[in-house]
Amino acid sequence: MGKSRQSSLTHHAFTAPGTMSMMAPILLTKGTSMGRLQGKVAIVTGAGGGIGTAISRQFASEGAAVVGVDVDTGALARMAAAVRAAGGGVSTLSDDVADDATAVAAVACALAEFGRLDVLVSNAVYDLPLAPLTGLSLADWRRTMAVNLDSAFLLSKHAIPAMDAGGGGSIILVASQLGSVARPGRPWYCAAKGALIQLAKAMALDHAGQHIRVNSLSPGPVETDRYVRNFDTLEAARASHHTLLGRLGAPDEIAAGAVFLTSDESAFMTSTDLLIDGGYTAV
Ligand SMILES: NC(=O)c1ccc[n+]([C@@H]2O[C@H](COP(=O)([O-])OP(=O)(O)OC[C@H]3O[C@@H](n4cnc5c(N)ncnc54)[C@H](O)[C@@H]3O)[C@@H](O)[C@H]2O)c1
Repeated sequence: MGKSRQSSLTHHAFTAPGTMSMMAPILLTKGTSMGRLQGKVAIVTGAGGGIGTAISRQFASEGAAVVGVDVDTGALARMAAAVRAAGGGVSTLSDDVADDATAVAAVACALAEFGRLDVLVSNAVYDLPLAPLTGLSLADWRRTMAVNLDSAFLLSKHAIPAMDAGGGGSIILVASQLGSVARPGRPWYCAAKGALIQLAKAMALDHAGQHIRVNSLSPGPVETDRYVRNFDTLEAARASHHTLLGRLGAPDEIAAGAVFLTSDESAFMTSTDLLIDGGYTAV
């Protein structure tokens, strides 16, 4: 798929480098309304998907500008419309996150369009039909690792210098409850997600001195099109939840965690895995 980039700037207020990300939460006085992410600039991969769109929209509602990356051009356009409707600045990049050039372009886009980079949410996922490891080709294994794991490495590698130049930042690697526990037929997924949780911890050590916080965010089962596609009916998908709360999660419930990990409310959190799984992993 060819590269395409589109941008739209609305209601975006810039912040001097190194100010917002270091400060304690701002207390608002009567009549003022300021988002929890005001002035921040975020790259979100898989931005056209269920959780990626919810994250992008909530970021915009809280005052952030979003560079959305996805291979699905139509989904990106729908995400961009939702972000604009929420009053946020948005730029989109339609390309493969497994390529180094995409990571370089995404960071360049954030700097060119919005002047800084504060946040990376590595969220894209490449799924395969359920099968044990013996049913996987080497090509499929490599492709899932390229999209699900290499992309986090590539985006982080190129984002960190830009965040450093701005005084710090927050990196969120979207993992899964299946990074901590396993399900049958998903060896590639469990391996990549477990690696993302450890990658976040290791990066947190290396970049704490640059005021860059790195955490993983692990959703449990969430009602997105991708999740539902694994079942014959919506009812069957919903019945498969395995959660203590007796239901699937909603994309906005995961996005709320991403907003928290991006905001100054989580300023003392790094190297953590934030599980939002409805109690899936409790038993
Ligand atoms: N939905 C769940 O139940 C669930 C549970 C645990 C973890 N997660 C994680 O949450 C994240 C989002 O999941 P989702 O359910 O919203 O998935 P989704 O399929 O709705 O969204 C994923 C997006 O990634 C994009 N994508 C795929 N390959 C790409 C590539 N090579 N380059 C760029 N973009 C690419 C897709 O086009 C899609 O828009 C994933 O990391 C997933 O593993 C989801």
